[in-house]
Amino acid sequence: MLEIELCGVKMKNPTMLAAGVMGSTASSLNWVSRCGAGAVVTKSFSKMPNKGYKNPTTVEVTGGIINAIGLSSPGVETFKKELELINTEFPKVASIYGASPDEFSQVAAEVENLVDLIELNISCPHAMGGCGAAIGQDAELTYNVVKKVKKTISKPFFVKLTPNVTDLSEIVLSAKKGGCDGFTLINSLGPGMKIDLETAHPILYNKFGGMSGPAIKPIALRCVFETFSMVDIPIIGVGGISNYKDAVEFLYAGASAVQIGTAIMKRGPEIFAEICMGIEKFMKDHKFNSVEEMVGLAHKF
Ligand SMILES: Cc1cc2nc3c(=O)[nH]c(=O)nc-3n(C[C@H](O)[C@H](O)[C@H](O)COP(=O)(O)O)c2cc1C
Repeated sequence: MLEIELCGVKMKNPTMLAAGVMGSTASSLNWVSRCGAGAVVTKSFSKMPNKGYKNPTTVEVTGGIINAIGLSSPGVETFKKELELINTEFPKVASIYGASPDEFSQVAAEVENLVDLIELNISCPHAMGGCGAAIGQDAELTYNVVKKVKKTISKPFFVKLTPNVTDLSEIVLSAKKGGCDGFTLINSLGPGMKIDLETAHPILYNKFGGMSGPAIKPIALRCVFETFSMVDIPIIGVGGISNYKDAVEFLYAGASAVQIGTAIMKRGPEIFAEICMGIEKFMKDHKFNSVEEMVGLAHKF
């Protein structure tokens, strides 16, 4: 009942691990999969190693957390060893990043045979050196990265977008024109910050970081809804999902699948089985026979 297909990749249910949470090693990715996720996404990795920011990199705030990890990455050569150790039975997605079209396409080419899908992270709000949102906030850079990856690999790939733009449609249409196979929306929101009352110090080492968790859900939902009305390729919804009701809302907005990140930190990877059970019961109660029947229903109004 919960099975879906994303660009030809079969998943037992529409839930996926979001990039950056429990996605650094094969053993944690295997664990998340055993807990019921339909697919797993790695933490974003780059061509060369990157240490990221010093601690503190994460702080809890009302409605979620702010993180400024700075896209720490062991580099593609090391990450490939982890990818080789992931169980083969379930779908896996490599989240990759870079500072240029060449870097993206080189990393994508290195790993395309080890995964089922690739997700291009052009949307991190606290990346260093021209990576992340510096690309996804610029329509021309977005187009150049997507086009180069399309030319280089044959695996389907999704582009993960930032909500931190003036005009989302401009970026969506550039990426679509470049030839991506789907979209993931949204990366963390902001940047935002938190300050310690006693010392007046900004808490994060980088001062600013990306906001995630329940508070960003309405914005993520709007981004999915808006994108669905512009394109006819699949969308993965992510941002603040912590129960089956949130997941159903994203399906109604136009997501074909959903990713879960911050909620795992509070509730553990067991949240995947809980959300799947909830969606299944909801579908039975509302007489839906497939997840696909729910996708985009909110657009009828
Ligand atoms: C600690 C942390 C690390 C993250 N690292 C990445 C990353 O490496 N690549 C990426 O595309 N998104 C990353 N994200 C963003 C998430 O994948 C997701 O888009 C965002 O957190 C919103 O979903 P959520 O509210 O379910 O966490 C990270 C988020 C958190 C909280």
